[in-house]
Amino acid sequence: MPSPQMKPGVPGRSGRYFTRVRDTLARGSGTPRTGCPVSVVDVPSLPGDRPGAYFDAASTEPPHPAAREALLGALDAGWADPARLYGAARGARLLLDRARARTAGVLGVRPDEVYFTTSGTQAVHLAVLGGLRARRRAGRHLVIGEVEHSSVLHAAEQHEREGGEVTRVGVDRTGRIDVDAFAAALRPDTALACLQSANHEVGTLQPVDEVAAICRTARVPLFVDAAQSVGRTDVPEGWSMLAASAHKWGGPAGVGLLVVRKNTRWRSPLPDDEREGRRVPGFENVPGAVAAAAALTAYREEMVEAAPRQSALVDRIRAEVPRRVPDVEVVGDPVRRLPHIVTFSCLYVEGEALLTELDRLGFAVSSGSSCTADTLRPSHVLEAMKVITHGNVRVSLPRDVQAPDVDRFLAVLPDTVGRLRRSAGMTTA
Ligand SMILES: Cc1ncc(COP(=O)(O)O)c(C=O)c1O
Repeated sequence: MPSPQMKPGVPGRSGRYFTRVRDTLARGSGTPRTGCPVSVVDVPSLPGDRPGAYFDAASTEPPHPAAREALLGALDAGWADPARLYGAARGARLLLDRARARTAGVLGVRPDEVYFTTSGTQAVHLAVLGGLRARRRAGRHLVIGEVEHSSVLHAAEQHEREGGEVTRVGVDRTGRIDVDAFAAALRPDTALACLQSANHEVGTLQPVDEVAAICRTARVPLFVDAAQSVGRTDVPEGWSMLAASAHKWGGPAGVGLLVVRKNTRWRSPLPDDEREGRRVPGFENVPGAVAAAAALTAYREEMVEAAPRQSALVDRIRAEVPRRVPDVEVVGDPVRRLPHIVTFSCLYVEGEALLTELDRLGFAVSSGSSCTADTLRPSHVLEAMKVITHGNVRVSLPRDVQAPDVDRFLAVLPDTVGRLRRSAGMTTA
């Protein structure tokens, strides 16, 4: 029996979100000061009147209104070259400095430890390769977790290709790193250790404080990829370098953070450039940095109320999905987890087909083992956890999620899975 919210043409909150996006794209034209009309062409059709919900905040959080306002203001006030010496340039420099100080305040670090990058991925690459380069004399051994984001894995692979050595530390069935194995992996020639703050596919929080203490004793710098947790949870302590990504907290895409604590050795793996303290090459994206800082401040404040609401909804999904759908495994740590991510795998269903079907019903979700990855290989995270990798769905709740959004999802899921199983020839789905 469909719930009242499921009537066609009655969008829920997230349905309104889709409507807003569609209308903005459809409007899509304006006349900038140059007098040259711009238009957004090839507008994709968006599910404006479908009563679904956007549940892919771990990929990217919908833009925060604070980001939009700050971005528009800074496009006008912060376009000049912050490295120059005239008035407009000083204005841009001031905006950039303020954005840095604001960001540092939320992270609990010094402003001169924060560098704006062009993405979370770039921040990760610079941290890993720059950290390794600076400690070449100590050795060429790198320690990483097995369930790190692809940006860390790819940097590690490059290090291997260039003659370095990498130890990958395993996780338990919840995706939590094996702390003893991490400690045992550190050697006198270990140049750098890397651990994510929380897993991007299953939401499990990693024991960063414990690992940081171990690394400190071993005198090995620790890099923390905090792209999934900054803005949502407290920043852990004890690390030497950290990376984050603004579009994960409602800031603009194309802005990341590299944080390098004082007394941490770092040497650029790239050709020399004097921007961003010689750490990030290229002309600074001042409007992006301003918008990222504004969104982070607003988001962090909102999370005081939003995180418990999201977490209770995740608990509800964790309890209800196996009750309503047979042959399902909910994965990840049920307690030590991010507030907004829940992942489950449905036996006898292809993840890609499930995502497509849910999209048809208006629900935007993702999967670690589907066409959303570059290849059709199963997720390395789920494989490392030794859990089911097929029929995998990651639900990640945006900041304005409400209970009816989740109710609608739970209402359509059993039938959707059942239909796919029957079409695959199963009779007892
Ligand atoms: C854990 C983690 N690290 C790094 C990144 C890369 O961030 P960006 O999308 O800004 O390149 C992501 C993005 O999904 C992530 O989840």
